[in-house]
Amino acid sequence: MTFKYSPAILLFVIFSVTSKETGDILVYTVATEETNGFDRYLDSASEFNIQPKILGFGHEWRGGEVKTHPGGGWKLKLLKTALEPFEGDDNKLVLFTDAYDVIFLGKLDEIVRRFHKTGARILFGAEPYCWPDAGLETKYPEVKEGKRFLNSGMFIGYVPEVLKLLSRKEIDDQDDDQLFCTEAYLDEKFREDAQIKLDHTNELFQNLNGVAGEIEIISKPTKEGDIDKYYVKNVLYQTEPIVIHGNGASKHTLNYLGNYVPNAWNSVEGCRQCKKGLINLEGLPSKDVPVVLIALFIEHNTPFLEEFLNKIHNLQYPKERIHLFIHNAMKFHTDHVNNFTEKHAKEYVTLKQITPDDAIPEWTARDLSLDHCLTKKCDIYFSVDSIAHIDNPYTLKLLIEQNRTVIAPLLTRPGKAWSNFWGALSKDGFYARSNDYMDIVHSEKRGLWNVPFISNAYIINSTLLKSRDRTVINYTKPKVDADMTFCSNLRKIDVFMYVSNRVDFGHLINPDNFDTTRTEPDMYQIFDNAQDWEDRYIHVDYPENFNPEKKDLQPCPDVYWFPIVSERFCNSLINMMENFGKWSSGTNNDERLVGGYEAVPTRDIHMNQVGWEPHWLHFLQKYVRPLQEKVFIGYYHDPPKSLMNFVVRENYRYRPDEQPSLRPHHDSSTYTINIALNRRNVDYEGGGCKFIRYNCSVVDTKQGWLLIHPGRLTHFHEGLQVTNGTRYIMISFVDP
Ligand SMILES: *[C@@H]1O[C@H](CO)[C@@H](O)[C@H](O)[C@H]1NC(C)=O
Ligand SMILES: *[C@@H]1O[C@H](CO)[C@@H](O)[C@H](O)[C@H]1NC(C)=O
Ligand SMILES: *[C@@H]1O[C@H](CO)[C@@H](O)[C@H](O)[C@H]1NC(C)=O
Ligand SMILES: *[C@@H]1O[C@H](CO)[C@@H](O)[C@H](O)[C@H]1NC(C)=O
Ligand SMILES: *[C@@H]1O[C@H](CO)[C@@H](O)[C@H](O)[C@H]1NC(C)=O
Ligand SMILES: *[C@@H]1O[C@H](CO)[C@@H](O)[C@H](O)[C@H]1NC(C)=O
Repeated sequence: MTFKYSPAILLFVIFSVTSKETGDILVYTVATEETNGFDRYLDSASEFNIQPKILGFGHEWRGGEVKTHPGGGWKLKLLKTALEPFEGDDNKLVLFTDAYDVIFLGKLDEIVRRFHKTGARILFGAEPYCWPDAGLETKYPEVKEGKRFLNSGMFIGYVPEVLKLLSRKEIDDQDDDQLFCTEAYLDEKFREDAQIKLDHTNELFQNLNGVAGEIEIISKPTKEGDIDKYYVKNVLYQTEPIVIHGNGASKHTLNYLGNYVPNAWNSVEGCRQCKKGLINLEGLPSKDVPVVLIALFIEHNTPFLEEFLNKIHNLQYPKERIHLFIHNAMKFHTDHVNNFTEKHAKEYVTLKQITPDDAIPEWTARDLSLDHCLTKKCDIYFSVDSIAHIDNPYTLKLLIEQNRTVIAPLLTRPGKAWSNFWGALSKDGFYARSNDYMDIVHSEKRGLWNVPFISNAYIINSTLLKSRDRTVINYTKPKVDADMTFCSNLRKIDVFMYVSNRVDFGHLINPDNFDTTRTEPDMYQIFDNAQDWEDRYIHVDYPENFNPEKKDLQPCPDVYWFPIVSERFCNSLINMMENFGKWSSGTNNDERLVGGYEAVPTRDIHMNQVGWEPHWLHFLQKYVRPLQEKVFIGYYHDPPKSLMNFVVRENYRYRPDEQPSLRPHHDSSTYTINIALNRRNVDYEGGGCKFIRYNCSVVDTKQGWLLIHPGRLTHFHEGLQVTNGTRYIMISFVDP
């Protein structure tokens, strides 16, 4: 007769096994206070319905300074006390881990299953370092594969054995917990009686210190066709550990992994952790939105500072809740700042300014701004450096709503890998590139990233500043960059620094080649800050020139007319030239030319005389050439060549000595461009250009508009008389 399990019995058996495996396990940790790491630990636990009991919460930490010195005996004492009531419970398991630097990656029943497979009664995680007493190394049993040394940050075992271990010797609060456990393990008899084993190959526990190279984040579908989830894999042992511990110097490795696991980010839903803990400012009356101190730092001469300030002013946030703090260390920018504050300061609650004359160094100014924030009872501190352009006006609001202690908007130099965060740290605390750095910088992955270094723009929730001795969070260390000191101080107290690229927030200015000895130095930034240059100096209607719906303006046969540069450009170029001031004589003798003879002399200044020739040629190539190709079809010459590039000044009344018109001539060019730099009937009267073959004149020129016409043969032309004032035009003879 065969015995058959009825389905009901089968179900019962399965149920009782699982319930026994998970129901009979106690999960403990020790944490005295809420930190970012502790919140992460709890989040990971709740992801798998694990409900750890927290020991020591709200107490003063009594286990010594564990980061730099041995300590932590107190932890074991707390655990021992907690376990005593379960002393007789032979089948009860206990899982004990640290809290601030531990993440769960799986369910309890899986943890228990893997523990049972080892046959141990107590299982510790292993690591490659014999710590805190390296002298004990030789006492350790040899291992064939895997890490040899005990780490006490994570272990699982049966309650009776764990209690035996914890009672093996007296423990003092300040004793080292790892040394305590190590001694028990190295006591061969004790080890065998209590069946203590180490998880040498990370089947269950992964200590991360010193093994970053063995760890990979891998993604695989949860089920066929399902979304990809990320796992932590130890590629050396081909294991997928389910409790990970950022022990020792490996906090950043843990932070990096925590950006993906457990299910913090996946390719379909994107950033899941972004949606946690959000606050909503939408629709709140102004009086209820957080009070913000915006601290601006101008520590270097910076191109496009006006735009920087305007973008701060454009932030969509009630100004009656904003205090301003401005540290300007640069004399060059005094007027920019004054112009801004004279116009806008009254819109903000208060303004505190530190000027170049105050001669306060950056470090001190930054420290002062934190104090100032507290003085003003701020809820949020928002620091922005002059190179950080906050293009998205909702940035401040979005960052506050993200509700993290410290968070930066991702800012990059357009098209470059340069950004305001580091994905990883080198051993000596400098920049290192993380595997996902490029994906984040180019926003191929979007989300919220816990990183070891941020700079240039970030917010700090002031509860952090209030919750501890403010001086612990400071910028000041001799010979170290302020932002490096700041981040290093935050890392020391385990404050997570996030960078967000959930949306585009803005970009970074490149200040490296900013020559403030020039007149109009921003005009020279066409290479280094191309986008900002374009925003300021290219005509707003320029893109419309390429709208296929729009007909090109053609005032005379084969003479075309396009908006190309802004009023600002025109005024700046005139200013550059007038400031240089060496207008040519307007005679046929021109020592600037090879041969020294000018057939059609004008009063002009060449671009190369003001060091702007390369910039101008780049402008020709980038902005003029596409227009040329559009209207003179079939002519391609890239880059356009042009030896003669100059600004012409045509005066009438005030400088009767200067020549007001130009006799008929051909240009020695394939095509000629002519940009009107000032306003007809406002700045001057008369003027213009007559194309003799067609008996057609263009007189009604508009500032910032470009005329383009063929140079030789057909477009014999003459300059028309300026009858009043001064006219400026910009001329290039392209492809002579
Ligand atoms: C904001 O974050 C804090 C700290 O993590 C948390 O306690 C709070 O609940 C969060 N606020 C909301 C609305 O979730
Ligand atoms: C400041 O404003 C004045 C008046 O609008 C203007 O003339 C000047 O160029 C501005 N200065 C700077 C540096 O922007
Ligand atoms: C600042 O942090 C505290 C506690 O973490 C949180 O309750 C609060 O909502 C945060 N405030 C803002 C404005 O984000
Ligand atoms: C700055 O912070 C560090 C570490 O938090 C501390 O050691 C140092 O004394 C602080 N410096 C000042 C000037 O408060
Ligand atoms: C040229 O045009 C003007 C005005 O449009 C006209 O008066 C004149 O007769 C024209 N000359 C010739 C030669 O066609
Ligand atoms: C020249 O322009 C000035 C200023 O706009 C004006 O006052 C004057 O009358 C003009 N002269 C002539 C001759 O049109």
